[in-house]
This record gives sequence, structure tokens and C-alpha cells, in this order.
Amino acid sequence: MSANKLSDNIVIDKLGRNLQDLRISITDKCNFRCRYCMPREVFDNNWEFLKRNELLTYEEILLVIDSFIKLGLKKVRLTGGEPLIRKDMHELIRIIKNKYPNLEIALTTNGSLLSHYSQKLKQAGLDRITISLDSLEPKLFEKMNDTKIPITQVLDGIKSVCDLNFKNIKINCVIKKGLNENQIIPLIEYFKNKNVILRFIEYMDVGNSNQWNMGQVFTKEDIIKKINSKYDFSLIGREKRSDVAEQWIEKNTNQKIEIISSISQPFCSNCTRARLSSDGKLYTCLFAFKGFDIKKILRENGDITTKIKEVWEQRDDQFSELRNEFITSQKKVEMSYIGG
Ligand code: GTP
Ligand code: 5AD
Ligand code: SF4
Ligand code: SF4
Repeated sequence: MSANKLSDNIVIDKLGRNLQDLRISITDKCNFRCRYCMPREVFDNNWEFLKRNELLTYEEILLVIDSFIKLGLKKVRLTGGEPLIRKDMHELIRIIKNKYPNLEIALTTNGSLLSHYSQKLKQAGLDRITISLDSLEPKLFEKMNDTKIPITQVLDGIKSVCDLNFKNIKINCVIKKGLNENQIIPLIEYFKNKNVILRFIEYMDVGNSNQWNMGQVFTKEDIIKKINSKYDFSLIGREKRSDVAEQWIEKNTNQKIEIISSISQPFCSNCTRARLSSDGKLYTCLFAFKGFDIKKILRENGDITTKIKEVWEQRDDQFSELRNEFITSQKKVEMSYIGG
């Protein structure tokens, strides 16, 4: 197989889902402490983040991608923690893109360092970018993301990627009931004529730290009710079957938004995503309890392709669709570790 041709191979899990996307967390650290992800009272000075030698190097990440490509990979998404705090992360993008020009590379970031890196990311070959923004209100932004970094820094970051004409820029907004649903309309207004797609995400019970409860979920139904009190959005559907988000379009302005309803309307039956933690563990679900140690095999020069294939073929995860007492009471991986 030539380097720029992606493999046509397909590997299927126990529920008939093929392996297609890989989310790679490149650091478990973050310069924000979003209350729904890394509450400061848990992720404090005593929290033990991964040490440098525990992280996969960029060369090792490329070796893992080599194996996934043989198994049918079509897209990687780089996440964290905050991926842009890892040194020279645009170099990782460059080496992946050089080897696999047809592999789609996407990035999820909190946007705080974006204006500094956007040009470098573009030059390195980044295809798509998604930025988190939960509020346009500076005070509420500070409260939800628990950071002193000013919101203007994130808005400048978003502007810089718009100016560079990245295609398909998306803005992730997690809605927590009673906290920021009043931001939905202002956010729609703000992004109306900008070349980005705003997406509203139901607050999820990821990890063990955010004290999630169902009463804090502003559901897809609530979101639609709110937006259609002012606008006229109707459903388009998913762009790809495996997408997490459903698209909606406004009749008069043609503005598109997306809704991710992992709590009220789970989408496990089409889930084609594998996840790699920054210390090289392979997870087959965002809500997994255990990962498979790829780094160990890699550092012993073993055959990771066969192992990854075996792990995927054994996969039967469908957490969001089952969401039962037993599963929710288990110790899950943290969002900042697994990369969302
Ligand atoms: P694109 O579809 O490429 O735009 O990316 P994405 O939506 O997969 O990635 P992003 O990092 O923007 O994630 C958006 C939201 O969806 C976050 O809250 C993620 O945690 C959530 N999410 C992503 N993948 C999954 C998944 O497989 N299961 C669940 N339950 N949530 C997911
Ligand atoms: N529920 C829903 N989305 C979350 N994210 C982080 N924690 C949660 C949660 N508990 C989002 C972030 C980021 C994406 C990777 O996941 O806002 O945009
Ligand atoms: Fe950091 Fe993103 Fe988690 Fe917020 S959601 S603490 S920005 S990793
Ligand atoms: Fe996939 Fe697990 Fe999310 Fe379901 S809960 S969509 S199986 S990652």
C-alpha cells in the first residue's frame, strides 16, 4: 500500500460497527478547569498528571496510526486535556500529514492558545478545527471554565482560524441546565454570519469528578424548544451515519447548527470511534473502565496491529444506550485523560 492511499480494510466489532475514527489525547493537562470536566477541587496541586516519559512520543503516535491505517482508519482527532499546551504539537500534524495526505486530521481545543498557533497549524496540514465556547458572557465563561484567561483570547483564536479559511470550523457549547441555557440565543446571533457551525452538547456523565445528575441536563428537546421560540430551525440529520451530531438549519437565514444528544438520544449503534490516551492505552468507549496497553507492546517491539484488531473485534460497548446502575457506579476514565 502506498503511503498516501488509505486502506480499504474493514474491521468489525461484535455489534457490526467498523473501526473508522481515532481520537488521540496528546496530553492530560489543561490550562482550564471546566467545572464539567476538571473541577479544581479534584484536579488540584495534588493531582498526579502523567509524567513526560509516560506519554507516547510523536514518533510512537505515528506508529500507532500506521497500524490503524492498515485496519481502515479514515480520520484522526487530536484532543487533550488541551492539545495546544504540548510542545510543538503542529509538528505532530506535519508528520502525520506528510505520511498520510488523505487522512483527515481534526483538532479539538479550548481556543486559548489558538491565535498564536493557527498559522502553524494550517501550514502543518490540519484539516479541521473545533473550539469549545460555553458562554459569551465573560463572567459566566470564567465561572464555567474556571479560568482567568480572558474570553477575548478564545474569541481572537476563533477569529484567527476563520481568517485563515479553515473549512468546517465548529464551536462546541456544553449546556448545563440553570447555568448557561441563556447563552444559546446570543451564541446563535454571534455566529450567524460567521463561517462556523455552532453545536450544543448535552451535559454528560463522563468521568467520576463532575457530580453529574440528570437534573442538570438541558436536553435536545429543551434546546430545540428554546431556539424555536425565536427562530425556525428544522432537522437535516447526520452528515455521516457515524457522526455524533445532528444538523439543523434555519429556514430564513440558512444558518446551520448541530445538537449532540448523547444523554437523551444516544448514538452508540453507529459508533466507529476508538480512543488512544496520551500514555498509549486504547479505549473502545468514552465511558470505558479499562484500556488496553498499546505502549507496552510498542516499546517491546511487538505487533500492535494484530492486538488493536483483536481488541476491536471483541468490542461490544454501548454505554450511552445502556446507561444502567451497574455501569454508572463503576470508576470510569476521566474526560481530560481520554480526550472527550
Ligand atoms: P466531528 O464529528 O468530527 O465534528 O467531531 P466530534 O464531534 O466527534 O468531536 P468533538 O471533540 O467536537 O466532540 C463533541 C462532543 O461529542 C464532546 O462532548 C464529546 O465528548 C462528544 N463525543 C464525541 N465522540 C463521542 C462518542 O463516541 N460518544 C459520546 N457519548 N460522546 C462523544
Ligand atoms: N459533557 C459534555 N461535553 C463535555 N466536554 C467536556 N466535558 C463534557 C461533559 N461532561 C466537551 C468539551 C469539549 C469536548 C471535547 O467535550 O467542552 O468541547
Ligand atoms: Fe480543559 Fe477541555 Fe476539559 Fe475544559 S473541557 S477542562 S478545556 S480539557
Ligand atoms: Fe461510542 Fe461509547 Fe459514546 Fe456509545 S457511549 S457512542 S459506544 S463512545
